[in-house]
Amino acid sequence: MRRREESYREVAVDAMEIIIQPDPEHAGDLVAQEIVRLFTEKPTAVLGLATGSSPLPIYRALRRRFEAGEVSFAHGMAFTLDEYVGLPYGHPESYRAVIRREIADHLDLPPESLTTPQPHTDDLDGAAAAYDQAIRDAGGVDFQILGIGENGHIGFNEPGVSLGSRTHVGTLTPSTREANARFFEGDLDQVPTQCITQGLGTIMEARQIVLVATGPRKAEAIAQLVEGGVSQKWPATILQHHPRTTVIVDEEAAAGLELLDHYRASYGAVPTWRAT
Ligand code: GLP
Repeated sequence: MRRREESYREVAVDAMEIIIQPDPEHAGDLVAQEIVRLFTEKPTAVLGLATGSSPLPIYRALRRRFEAGEVSFAHGMAFTLDEYVGLPYGHPESYRAVIRREIADHLDLPPESLTTPQPHTDDLDGAAAAYDQAIRDAGGVDFQILGIGENGHIGFNEPGVSLGSRTHVGTLTPSTREANARFFEGDLDQVPTQCITQGLGTIMEARQIVLVATGPRKAEAIAQLVEGGVSQKWPATILQHHPRTTVIVDEEAAAGLELLDHYRASYGAVPTWRAT
């Protein structure tokens, strides 16, 4: 069991950081650079991986940088956010399979250093609690990648979830199941109804969080996340209480933000993804 001894970089942040990028590939490379910097400074870092299409440009950029010899994950660990309950073992759309296919298997991360929630058990609550504990035992997540659902969910924390929730068994909303049907041949009946997800309280313990969202369908969720009131109705809004969260969006996802000019000016004036 490994314990964190020091945080790789402490940066005082006065607000959620909003970065507008021209397209998903630029956003992905910016995040990959930060991850490379983290693992250079702290080779034993713990990475929090997310599924969905939003993180894919990050994973492509990370694979390129790994193949170019810029970074090693040999001494690192990774945890995923969530997992479907009810899919057969090894199903290609299980989040474990997706994360292995898109990123983990392409890096030098030892297979045993990737941990995902265990949905193949009669004791799902026990599996959820064990997952929460495993993250703690690893010393916590250093860098958590997040996407966001159109309804403001992070992980599978659907509207109404407790803002302090730990890893738990949850039920997917109809809109989330519809959004994810594209991964199941468009067939809603194949989309599971249950999941195990890190809770909001669990996610909030990550030392650094980067949420990526692109496209117009995410504009309302981003407006709520950044400028709305903190509410269970838009679960991602809890991140307003996190000391070190960066939101990376394209112009379309940023379209609903009232203080856009301020965010642009702030990032230009004090680039916290600072050249060091
Ligand atoms: C899924 C995942 C989330 C993800 C969200 C958005 O339901 N559980 O972790 O952020 O959907 O996915 P996408 O990035 O494909 O829009």
